[in-house]
Amino acid sequence: MTTRCLVTGAGGQVGLDLIRVLQARGYDVHGSDIAPRPDAAQLDASVPWHALDVTDADSVEALFTKVRPHRVFHLAAILSARGEEVPQRTYDVNQNGTVNVLEACRKLEVERVIFTSTIAVFGPGLPATVVDDVPLQPTTMYGVTKVAGELLGDYYWRRFGVDFRAVRFPGLISASLPGGGTSDYALFMYTDGVRLGHYEAFCRPDTRIPLMYMPDGIRALVDLSEASRGALRRCTYNIAAFSPTAEEIAQSVATAIAGVNITFASDPRRQAILDSWPRVLDDSNARNDWGWAPDYDLGAMTEDLVPKIRALIEQNPGLFDHDH
Ligand SMILES: NC(=O)c1ccc[n+]([C@@H]2O[C@H](COP(=O)([O-])OP(=O)(O)OC[C@H]3O[C@@H](n4cnc5c(N)ncnc54)[C@H](O)[C@@H]3O)[C@@H](O)[C@H]2O)c1
Repeated sequence: MTTRCLVTGAGGQVGLDLIRVLQARGYDVHGSDIAPRPDAAQLDASVPWHALDVTDADSVEALFTKVRPHRVFHLAAILSARGEEVPQRTYDVNQNGTVNVLEACRKLEVERVIFTSTIAVFGPGLPATVVDDVPLQPTTMYGVTKVAGELLGDYYWRRFGVDFRAVRFPGLISASLPGGGTSDYALFMYTDGVRLGHYEAFCRPDTRIPLMYMPDGIRALVDLSEASRGALRRCTYNIAAFSPTAEEIAQSVATAIAGVNITFASDPRRQAILDSWPRVLDDSNARNDWGWAPDYDLGAMTEDLVPKIRALIEQNPGLFDHDH
């Protein structure tokens, strides 16, 4: 029987790419989101789509009863920058939404649940290179709720045997409009560089955070979901690709977009979040337990990304308009 996967928050930046990869690997994939079904250019017409607000426990259980997924990819969340504008709602979606999904997984005996945590679980004062097990003292509601998600997942695994697996994503970069994360400056260097020839980044040039190209992030999720449980010595894993400074990203962008002008004007609120994140992640547990390794470094990402963004902007000139 084909393994059935249900994705929450499937209409977002990660979800749409994840669905394409799961389909390509032969899974029966269902998407769900509080947002309407994306258009046919973004989502294959063959993918069933379900309206789901993860904060509504009854709706979550009803959908799981209807779809009967073997695996759940729980992505629905409000991200870091947006989360600081609406912290109460962020608590509701990220914390209550996650416990609702875990409860439905327990009741309906879902085989595996994959959770997307983040480097925003870390707080200030950590060493430059951060291993998996360090004190988690985030300064944002987003980080607080993602720590809780990791801990709840660990609890559901130990207490009820719900097979919970999570990665801590670095800032993800892809050729799509991001959902209000604090690492968005990196993508805007590329998109505004292509469409306008200039971009003023909201961080200092020496800002260094871990980043990853989306295809690697998606592959990490799918590979972790396919790993044998016996190989996994923990539930949540750091994963890493590269950790450039904002200045280094600007230099890489300049190799692919002639004459681009990238300047810096640090925004105190977002800079404070960026400064609270680790600079480099140690992902050796993921490498040892389930064979994690990234394919893309900064240069390879720039080479792949710029032509994609050019083609998308040609088709739809307003695609990457943004107001932050
Ligand atoms: N993009 C990144 O750089 C990054 C980094 C670290 C972790 N993550 C995590 O990866 C996951 C996906 O992120 P993304 O970049 O696709 O974000 P996104 O904002 O693009 O997508 C999130 C999706 O969740 C949906 N959603 C919001 N509230 C909901 C609710 N109440 N019920 C159901 N759906 C709801 C939104 O409509 C949206 O489609 C998130 O859990 C995020 O925390 C992302």
